[in-house]
Amino acid sequence: MPDSSGPEFNINPQARALPYTEIVRAKTDHLYPKISNLIPEIEWQLHAPYIAAINDLKKEKNAVILAHNYMTPEIFHCVGDFAGDSLQLAKEAARTDASVIVQAGVHFMAETSKILCPEKTVLIPDVKAGCSLAASITGADIRLLKEKYPGAPVVTYVNSTADVKAETDICCTSSNAVEVVEYAAREWDSDTVLFLPDQYLAKNVAAMTDVKIITWAGACEVHERFTAEDIREMREGNPGVIVLAHPECPPEVLAEADFAGSTSGLSNYVKEHQPRNVVLITECSMSDNVATENPKVNFVRPCNLCPHMKRISLPKILSSLQNMEHEVLIDPLVIDKARQAIERMIALPLTRQSMYTHERAPEVFAIETRA
Ligand code: 13P
Ligand code: SF4
Repeated sequence: MPDSSGPEFNINPQARALPYTEIVRAKTDHLYPKISNLIPEIEWQLHAPYIAAINDLKKEKNAVILAHNYMTPEIFHCVGDFAGDSLQLAKEAARTDASVIVQAGVHFMAETSKILCPEKTVLIPDVKAGCSLAASITGADIRLLKEKYPGAPVVTYVNSTADVKAETDICCTSSNAVEVVEYAAREWDSDTVLFLPDQYLAKNVAAMTDVKIITWAGACEVHERFTAEDIREMREGNPGVIVLAHPECPPEVLAEADFAGSTSGLSNYVKEHQPRNVVLITECSMSDNVATENPKVNFVRPCNLCPHMKRISLPKILSSLQNMEHEVLIDPLVIDKARQAIERMIALPLTRQSMYTHERAPEVFAIETRA
């Protein structure tokens, strides 16, 4: 498993183009303490001019930046107006009164914002910021699955395209997947649910419910690389370490972990339990962001990078706001169909995050693929 290359991964050579002036210093000095334990002063002076310019432009254009938990710390802590997991960002998109949303995350997250706020301008700083899960399935695949399993409701992970959401009965995220599957089975009066496209999340949900799950052979290219052996080695090398894993990891990884949850679920666990030593089995930037808020916790940091999330950088966010690019546009008919699936999810009165404690064998009924 590769080691984290740390926050310096996101320095863009173009960052040297903007000067660190007294005005920039005055506008950004109050932000530096948030990340000073991660970013040395010399590197901060490269980021600060971008941070100052982005924060000025946000006010001028009535824009908000929605930052996913996997953003690098200078984005997450210094320009993000709202930070969180996929569900929290979708909820923020639905309630913001800004006229422009810049999605500091991947393309499916920007599409989710556009679907919820079709009247707003939604920008993604890099159109190539994709996701292996979203790329694994199409709307046409879902239409075929619906023919094969008539009556079974379609629950789709939000890590999917707008076309796929348009074929969906209800969306879910990793923070509510178990509850959404049980709700869908009740509401559509079916013992079987199509849960797409993440086969590992599907198995981890199957371990928590009696609902029969049919899934798809999709996987997150970041989380599928973690193995149970990695966790055992980590425990051997770091006695007493608390292991927290994201449920996109294979079930055998979750079986070795102390707790599994969405990115915000992992962050909340650290805040509440303040473990002396912890390892987050998820994307690298999570540890950096959670560490700044929990200075007494020691983080063991082997991790995998998401190449899509790492396409988003301060210079690209600035360029996005300056040039109002790249605007996310979706066919209004697709928006109307997809919105229903996301709004059903948001409307569910969930009282807690989904837990993944493997009460049963993590077995699904079938894993479908494209013929
Ligand atoms: P969360 O909803 O847990 O933030 O996950 C999103 C994601 O892309 C994880 O890989
Ligand atoms: Fe997609 Fe995985 Fe990257 Fe999340 S971490 S955006 S699921 S590839």
